Amino acid sequence: MGIDHPQWEMYSSSKHGVRYMLKQSGVLPESAAAPTCQSCHMTGGNHGVRTAWGFVAVRLPMPPDPKWAADRTTIVKGLGALDPSGKPTARLGVLKDLDVFRTTQEDWQKERDRMFANCRQCHSSNFARGELEKGDMMIREADRLLAEAIEIVAGLYRDKIIAKSSYYAYPYPDLLAFHDAPTSIEQKLYLMFLEHRMRTFQGTFHANPDYALWYGWSKMVSDITEIRKLAADLRKGKKAAKR
Ligand code: HEC
Ligand code: HEC
Repeated sequence: MGIDHPQWEMYSSSKHGVRYMLKQSGVLPESAAAPTCQSCHMTGGNHGVRTAWGFVAVRLPMPPDPKWAADRTTIVKGLGALDPSGKPTARLGVLKDLDVFRTTQEDWQKERDRMFANCRQCHSSNFARGELEKGDMMIREADRLLAEAIEIVAGLYRDKIIAKSSYYAYPYPDLLAFHDAPTSIEQKLYLMFLEHRMRTFQGTFHANPDYALWYGWSKMVSDITEIRKLAADLRKGKKAAKR
């Protein structure tokens, strides 16, 4: 539940969840295959509940694709883990301690392999690998749009179009300021990150195209359109005020 993680909703309207509910209501036999949250996230009774991409879908090291690496760097700065010049911050230490994201390739791969083995109980290797890779690619595409939006807002601080009410010393958007962000454009940015990007990639990983496309990707596209327009209007307004 919650805007940032409607996994139950995604799951229960996916083929996996629908099949599970049909089993519960006796329409499908007990022997029918239908994974539950536990099959994929608590395999063998393991309560670790850890995934490759973690909750916010970033990881270190940066990917070889230079465009994606640049976008992810922008997002990690927006999470306050790197400062605007790219130096690690105190918050990075906190996020690492909380194990919010994987910080080595090996750590990421271990979780991915574990998830892949889950899918493999019921699906072919090719299908399972292909579906998980679709999730990765959705993150890459979503990062493109989110990074552009972060840079637009960062540009407004830099050019003193809007004031930065600061949690940290430097003028850069803080995605974790959530609803405390003071302007509409900053609030749009927080929803783009916490609501729509989450749905885009988590909907894909939970085999729910409806969430991935309509509640996720499609919303991100309208977010970026509005953010571009709001920024242009704010800049125009500032110019007019000066005259
Ligand atoms: C068919 C397997 C499958 C089922 C069933 C499933 N998930 Fe997931 N879940 C995934 C995959 C795959 C990911 C993304 C993994 C990655 O990061 O590579 C994911 C990601 C997540 C995340 C975000 C990552 C994190 O660590 O916070 C949460 C939260 C989550 N699932 C919760 C649930 C809940 C709750 C249910 C049941 C309502 C559920 N999942 C059912 C496969 C599943
Ligand atoms: C317990 C068995 C089981 C597990 C584990 C499982 N699935 Fe499935 N999955 C199914 C069944 C059964 C279907 C429905 C197949 C159908 O209707 O043709 C399905 C359907 C799907 C679909 C929808 C395909 C479509 O045609 O719409 C996707 C995508 C999918 N699974 C991905 C995954 C991924 C990725 C994992 C691992 C993270 C996974 N599944 C784990 C049993 C499982």
